[in-house]
Amino acid sequence: NVEAKVDSVLALMTLEEKVGQLVQYNGSWDLTGPALEMNNKQKEENLKNGKVGAMLNVLSVEATRKAQKLVMENSRLKIPLMFGYDVIHGYSTIFPVPLAETSSWDLEAMEKTAQIAALESAANGINWTFSPMIDVSRDARWGRIMEGSGEDPYLTSKVAVAKVQGYQSNDLANPHTIAATAKHFAGYGFGEAGRDYNTVHIGENELHNTILPPFKAAAKAGVATFMNSFNDIDGTPATAHITLQRDILKRDWNWNGFVVSDWGSIPEMIAHGLARDKKHAAQLALNAGSDMDMEGGAYEIGLLSLVEEGKVSEEYINDAVKRVLRVKFKLGLFDDPYLYANPELLDQISFEEHKAVARDVAKKSIVLLKNENGLLPIQDSVKKIAVIGPLANDKDTPIGNWRAQGETNSAVSLLEGLQNNVSKDVGISYAKGADLGMGERSFLMPLEINKTDTSGFQEAITKASEADLVIMALGEDAFQTGEGRSQVDIGLAGVQKELLKEIQKVNKNIVLVLINGRPLEITYASENIPAIVEAWQLGSESGNAIADVLLGDYNPSGKLPVSFPRAVGQEPLYYNQKNTGRPFNPTHVTYSGYADEKKDALYPFGFGLSYTSFEYGNLSISEEELTPGNPIEVSFSLKNTGEREGKEIAQLYIRDLVASTTRPVKELKGFKMVKLAPGESKTVTFQMNEAMLQFYSVNKKWEAEAGEFEIMVGGNSRDLQKVKFSLKK
Ligand code: IFM
Repeated sequence: NVEAKVDSVLALMTLEEKVGQLVQYNGSWDLTGPALEMNNKQKEENLKNGKVGAMLNVLSVEATRKAQKLVMENSRLKIPLMFGYDVIHGYSTIFPVPLAETSSWDLEAMEKTAQIAALESAANGINWTFSPMIDVSRDARWGRIMEGSGEDPYLTSKVAVAKVQGYQSNDLANPHTIAATAKHFAGYGFGEAGRDYNTVHIGENELHNTILPPFKAAAKAGVATFMNSFNDIDGTPATAHITLQRDILKRDWNWNGFVVSDWGSIPEMIAHGLARDKKHAAQLALNAGSDMDMEGGAYEIGLLSLVEEGKVSEEYINDAVKRVLRVKFKLGLFDDPYLYANPELLDQISFEEHKAVARDVAKKSIVLLKNENGLLPIQDSVKKIAVIGPLANDKDTPIGNWRAQGETNSAVSLLEGLQNNVSKDVGISYAKGADLGMGERSFLMPLEINKTDTSGFQEAITKASEADLVIMALGEDAFQTGEGRSQVDIGLAGVQKELLKEIQKVNKNIVLVLINGRPLEITYASENIPAIVEAWQLGSESGNAIADVLLGDYNPSGKLPVSFPRAVGQEPLYYNQKNTGRPFNPTHVTYSGYADEKKDALYPFGFGLSYTSFEYGNLSISEEELTPGNPIEVSFSLKNTGEREGKEIAQLYIRDLVASTTRPVKELKGFKMVKLAPGESKTVTFQMNEAMLQFYSVNKKWEAEAGEFEIMVGGNSRDLQKVKFSLKK
């Protein structure tokens, strides 16, 4: 068994070799952080001497094979390397960015895309992805909101499990699967003011009830590794956080994988003002349960002497090494170090099949926000379409940030998607109107936005004036979201809003297609444009998927996993907020709101329209009292009252009316995807049990408290029907 094998290897290791297993190097120029001051020759020497346990950003079968060979042919114990990479939404076939994909609420589809990403990664030598990112994030200013599943811990937990299963399956040693990483542990999505890497101020209540549940779900699902986070959380950088890593993750959750630091997050504790130098940083991190140092160079210089000086116990080192070895055994690397460096794997892949999946999940991820005057789906009477906007023929932005090996300009653009799919008698004209992102666009470089050049407007205005319908593609450049891409303005950047207003003057039939990675402030558009489609950054098949929806080949079913604000000043904005002591008073200002804007979302969490309509009714519960061991049934009727077949994501929320700590006004507790033919009605049933009512209480444990609750059901977090029940214990 694995444990016995791990112990037998550990017993052979010198302290130096043990430390080696806890070191991870970046391997190529594909940097995702500042690199160590060490040349490749030195790195090679260290690989040969067994001083490295894993690498990241070593890309291709040849390159991973070469690095593995250095270890297997030169080091004393021949402990194989792991190769990690940020495979966030696909490896070469690119799927929607995670926030977009979550809008599908389709867990099976999300598992499938992770499976494909694993397959393509493994065929290129990678056996470990730094995904899923399961940081609950409620601040649209934060650039990394695109990498997660939005503002809700329940939905994020479900996605976390689907992704872990997709990447890892039930057999890590299968060369078609790879190890996953639950990241970033913890609190990274709560950086003050939405600023990346910023300080996090949260108390125990928020930590346990909001931030930790997805991580706990991932740990339970057997995720192989965790990555800690850059941020300081209530005074302690996560990397040095004993409570989080040793107490909660490893002791309470009994999780036996390993924790990798974020890139350089161990030495960054010097900048945090917690560590005096790299060696001190190594001491703080290892003692707190950070097992592997990613490109930080702290463990390799510090751990050996720290053990000798008694500042770090060998017991802690052994535990960390065992965790690393365990994952390596599970990956099958001890049986075959080249398992994932097998050129034949690539030949077995059908990229055409993967593309079909990419299109399928992309169309499911689209959210219809507004549809007036029957503009959508595009009517047969429309014979001239003008496709306008900086993102209309952009083949790169839909690939999004964190694109792994997704090639530049490799997506099907919206224009191409329409051209590929409209009937022959429809004429399509195109004008870009203006640039959005200009100059060099890359992972590490700041992006320049066009704020002045409107020279393309006239052509766009002319084309719009000649068309029956205008499809405008506006939003964000791929490099406006992602790491280090926090923004204080989340409106339509540059000259886009101006362009929209100019087009509106000559043609009112506008379908605004948003291509973006974060919730945007689109209040003007929402008040003035008849149809709005949230198409996010949908990956390789973006344009075809958008065409599927615009042309009515697919009836949109996506729902928002994040609230869209009326104004950036509302951020962080989320549906599952607390009531406060002064929730509302229409007669004077002394309540918790804003003097110059409503306090609710423009488009709330869970919102999304369809080309048909749904009616919720007859909400009932089987018993008015729930007792432990005796769940109740919640049922309601859902009817398709429109003229097309459609899918509705029916949502179930609860509210704990009085508890030992304040509780959110609503919390998602279940959802079901229901397919209905026109006129068809179905009874939808959820089971409600005691576990679903649990929260981290004043007693510092997960428990459900007796008392009154509300159950709410509906098609979004705002428009809900409710009924009361009580929990008796
Ligand atoms: O995995 C990432 C992490 O999310 C942010 N910093 C760099 C890591 C490795 O590329």
